[in-house]
Amino acid sequence: MIRINTNYAKLQASYLFATVAKKVAAFREAHPEQEILRLGIGDVTRALPDSIVAAFRRGVEEMGNDRTFRGYGPDYGYEFLREAIAANDYLARGAKVEASEIFVSDGAKCDTGNFQEILSADARVAVPDPVYPVYVDSNVMAGRTGSFRDGRYEGLVYLDSTEANGFIPALPETPVDVVYLCFPNNPTGAVATREQLAAWVDWARRHRALILFDAAYEAFIRDERIPHSIYEIPGAREVAVEFRSFSKTAGFTGTRCAFTVVPRECVAADAAGRPVSLHDLWSRRQSTKLNGVSYPVQVAAAAVYSPEGKRQTRAIVDFYLENARLIRERLSGMGFACTGGDNSPYVWVKTGMESWKFFDLLLEEAGVVCTPGSGFGRCGEGYARFSAFGSRESTLKAMERIEALELAREVG
Ligand code: MLT
Repeated sequence: MIRINTNYAKLQASYLFATVAKKVAAFREAHPEQEILRLGIGDVTRALPDSIVAAFRRGVEEMGNDRTFRGYGPDYGYEFLREAIAANDYLARGAKVEASEIFVSDGAKCDTGNFQEILSADARVAVPDPVYPVYVDSNVMAGRTGSFRDGRYEGLVYLDSTEANGFIPALPETPVDVVYLCFPNNPTGAVATREQLAAWVDWARRHRALILFDAAYEAFIRDERIPHSIYEIPGAREVAVEFRSFSKTAGFTGTRCAFTVVPRECVAADAAGRPVSLHDLWSRRQSTKLNGVSYPVQVAAAAVYSPEGKRQTRAIVDFYLENARLIRERLSGMGFACTGGDNSPYVWVKTGMESWKFFDLLLEEAGVVCTPGSGFGRCGEGYARFSAFGSRESTLKAMERIEALELAREVG
């Protein structure tokens, strides 16, 4: 009989957000009368702004007319979108990124999960703890780890992000080839300063390591001193790949559009130690396995950069940031120690009890869904993540219900 990829057998039974969804579905079945308030998965709830919908429609209309119809698009995205990204997200912030270095895709989840494919099977990988589970699971699937023991996979290097270090992990003390970083961070909401990012770039250059930088939440940065891109740090082009997404920036979680930047200077070694361009390898990988993103979606994504698109998407991000501020303020008022929630849509909360116990308590007693911190790693035990992507009404109602539980304590 055909055998499976046995690395899959090492994975935890289900993906974190699938486990949460299963628990919520079971609760809903048992209590159909209870209104459930979802502050768990980071999924947007506000509609696409009208300037983006209008562009989306124009794209669809073109597809419905023989004269303007398009078949397969360019493998790495239409030039109009790549040019708009390079100009607005990078050049406007003083970071040099060429349109040709941008690879448009259907999601940062896929890109952060897939990128490891072009790296050697024995690459030594470091991840922060807590961490977005995709970075870990994709490396488990690829066979870069041993078994899961005591909340961690053997063979991975875990970089603790704790209260003690302000949720910014220290540089690795053991040899590492690749490190995943995410700022503003999912799940802790922490942001890295220019100096902190510069220390990572300097480390990567000294150790000839690669930084896989997930900037999916950069649109939530409001503090002008915080870099939005790793390429705002001199020298990063040689050692960093950056992942971005329209999901949280412009409400595209269901529409699907993202991009990855692989600068031409970014190289890794082949078996003989000769430098090979990661840009060329990722081009090869994407043209083999992806046929791009649909034309109307790319037209809609390009509209994010129009003056009206910028204004409207910023207003929606501001709306979520206000939710985050309210969550943080109300939970802090109840005595919970909180981090994140400014420059970030996530609030990371010290629960004073085991994460899953807190999750169950909130679900069963208040009908409120959060994400248990331990699902993001061992250092997440004792924490929960609250997402600010709900409506104002459900966010406030959730806070009222948690207040009514009178969990009040000084947790910290
Ligand atoms: C989350 O809740 O962490 C996000 O929805 C994850 C994602 O964007 O895939």
